[in-house]
Amino acid sequence: MSAGFLLEPEQSWFEAVNLDGNGAGREIDMAEYVVEFGRDGGPLEPDGRLDAPTFHRNHQAIRAVLQRYLADRSGDVVEAGSGTGQHVVDFARHFPEIVWWPSDLHEPHLKSIAAWRAHAGLANIRPPLRVDLADPAWCPELQDGNGPGKLLAVFCANVIHIAPWRVAEGLFAGAARYLAADGRLFLYGPFKRDGRHTALSNAVFDTSLRHRDAEWGVRDIEDLEKLARSVGLALVEAAEMPANNLVLVFERR
Ligand SMILES: C[S@@+](CC[C@H](N)C(=O)[O-])C[C@H]1O[C@@H](n2cnc3c(N)ncnc32)[C@H](O)[C@@H]1O
Repeated sequence: MSAGFLLEPEQSWFEAVNLDGNGAGREIDMAEYVVEFGRDGGPLEPDGRLDAPTFHRNHQAIRAVLQRYLADRSGDVVEAGSGTGQHVVDFARHFPEIVWWPSDLHEPHLKSIAAWRAHAGLANIRPPLRVDLADPAWCPELQDGNGPGKLLAVFCANVIHIAPWRVAEGLFAGAARYLAADGRLFLYGPFKRDGRHTALSNAVFDTSLRHRDAEWGVRDIEDLEKLARSVGLALVEAAEMPANNLVLVFERR
């Protein structure tokens, strides 16, 4: 399965998993997967900008968590697996003292990020880095002087459950390597607690992920804490988000 595989929102599937009955089920998170506009008839935005519908629903809640940690801070932040590039534009607009470094592996997403960057015209967004998170040394630019310095933060949304576990391992290893002493890793998405799903809709979603690729799946917080410990990081907060998602915050121990 290629890292850039795009999960397709299918109306019938959405309806089938709308278990919460209030529109807040995992069908929303399925739609958090990047939608390439106009797949059938060419991109809607001729410059390659993609739109993830739930960006419009989740970005304020996510940003509110970052606000508590990053307000008035300056430095470099890498977004891992930026997808469309919409989050990084939103962050750059609201945290103007921070230099934002979007990244991804998938070519259409790198193009979309670059297009959103050009569209936003913000000076504090750098061109997207091509990064494979499965490689623990995932940001060579951090070592060759052509990229950010020691990082204030790494932000990663909705990546590690639609990727093999080695991507989570690489993400944490790289974060541990590149974060400054007071740097943080922010991880957004659905998670299990103590081996159990936090909502039935998450369980259905997890099954659908594993059906698509046996190496994918909603990750357990406990496993992530173990992984964090192995690289010298520790979970300091699990912030509740809409639609049964969380933002996990990791710091150096
Ligand atoms: C579901 S999208 C999430 C995009 C964005 N973070 C968001 O929340 O809207 C997952 C992203 O992870 C990227 N990705 C998957 N595997 C990756 C890897 N090994 N290295 C870097 N990016 C990866 C995909 O290309 C895709 O852009």
